[in-house]
Amino acid sequence: MANILELRTENIKKFVADQDIVTLQPEVDRCHQDLESGRKEGAEYLGWLHLPSQTAPDHLKEIEQSAKWIRDNCEAFVSVGIGGSYLGAKAAIDFGSHAFLNQRSSIARGGPEIYFAGQNISSDYLHDLLEILEDKKVCLNVVSKSGTTTEPAIAFRLLKQFMEKKYGSDELRKRIFVTTDPERGALKQLAGEEGYRCFVIPDNVGGRYSVLTPVGLLPIAVAGMDIGELIAGARECENLATRHTGLDSNPVYRYAVIRNVLYQKGKTIELMAAFHPALQTVVEWWRQLAGESEGKEAKGIFPATAEYTADLHSLGQWVQEGNRILYETFLRVASSGHFMEISESPGNQDGLNYLTGRSLDEVNEKAWQGTARAHLEGGVPNMTLTMKDRSAYSLGYLFYFFQRAVAMSGSLMGVNPFDQPGVEFYKKNMFQLLNKPGYEKGK
Ligand code: PA5
Repeated sequence: MANILELRTENIKKFVADQDIVTLQPEVDRCHQDLESGRKEGAEYLGWLHLPSQTAPDHLKEIEQSAKWIRDNCEAFVSVGIGGSYLGAKAAIDFGSHAFLNQRSSIARGGPEIYFAGQNISSDYLHDLLEILEDKKVCLNVVSKSGTTTEPAIAFRLLKQFMEKKYGSDELRKRIFVTTDPERGALKQLAGEEGYRCFVIPDNVGGRYSVLTPVGLLPIAVAGMDIGELIAGARECENLATRHTGLDSNPVYRYAVIRNVLYQKGKTIELMAAFHPALQTVVEWWRQLAGESEGKEAKGIFPATAEYTADLHSLGQWVQEGNRILYETFLRVASSGHFMEISESPGNQDGLNYLTGRSLDEVNEKAWQGTARAHLEGGVPNMTLTMKDRSAYSLGYLFYFFQRAVAMSGSLMGVNPFDQPGVEFYKKNMFQLLNKPGYEKGK
């Protein structure tokens, strides 16, 4: 398979006629023009649209230099952030790394152990993390565009205090890296006062569209992934999606349109099922991107995720025979990083000798084909996205594919895909309950 990312849609034909797709072409063209010309609602957040082609080599070099310093000088790297300031980096690192990265020897790993904090409010999680960090050389990267998000702010305060006990002020300054807004926010001010190395999240890029900015790039480079290749892959998809809007030649928009047609036909849940454990966080990243971009004004496809085949033994029953309100998108990798074959067992006690000589990839492929057919027969339309491999290039392509597809899909739905007003409601209640100044009852 030559494609970096292949979209297969034959299993939606029973539910979506060609005409349903073709009818939306003029609407797609209009939304495309709105995106490209910046006429769209939310246009102030379109900085991600041509970010891959506008990323200068010097910008990457600067990030790589800091990443190298971190790799050379620390044994544990902690990325502190939540939502869009966390999921993209974790997705890429989980995708590109050894399945047991932190358990490997430092020589095999070639860089620090990698941890995440600030994505929850858990004393147990932070306690255990601090315990792990106790006798290690540590670097922190705190990531927050607003610089005021409560979860990472709490984690950063505690981690910073831990670092202050461990290091003198000169050493501490070298070990804390801040990624935040170019001008505003508490974190920007703190970085200035304390002299921390600061990376900028461009003003016009929202959190969930920011994986290809320093938000994602610094932690990803620390993990040893080639960020130049990541951007190059994204650039290829940017070119493809920008050049042609035709739904027969633009798989990004085709996927967006099919989602919308299925939604209009009552399929209100998209289950994104990864057929490789390395894709587990990638689908979580997609879930935030799709959910925050579309779920508003009482509209939106609910983005659910699963890891197959594991979840065929938990959700599989529901998908096969439950409420017929969902469709699936399978996300798979054509070839794994390692080849593993099933060998013959003389006694054949487990009855598996019929698989002798076949690879695990082949068995997994048959599991995907069997699942796709079974679920289709059960009334669940499904599509498949197959990545060529587990390279940084393929991942960059996929990141951009989903960003652009979700922007188009939300536009077709008639919502602003770049804001998230609903996220504020829980914060206001929490602040009131915690007596945060300015949020007292009645105010
Ligand atoms: O997509 C978004 O904008 C959000 O998920 C944010 O990334 C998340 O709320 C974290 O915000 P911040 O980076 O300001 O701490």
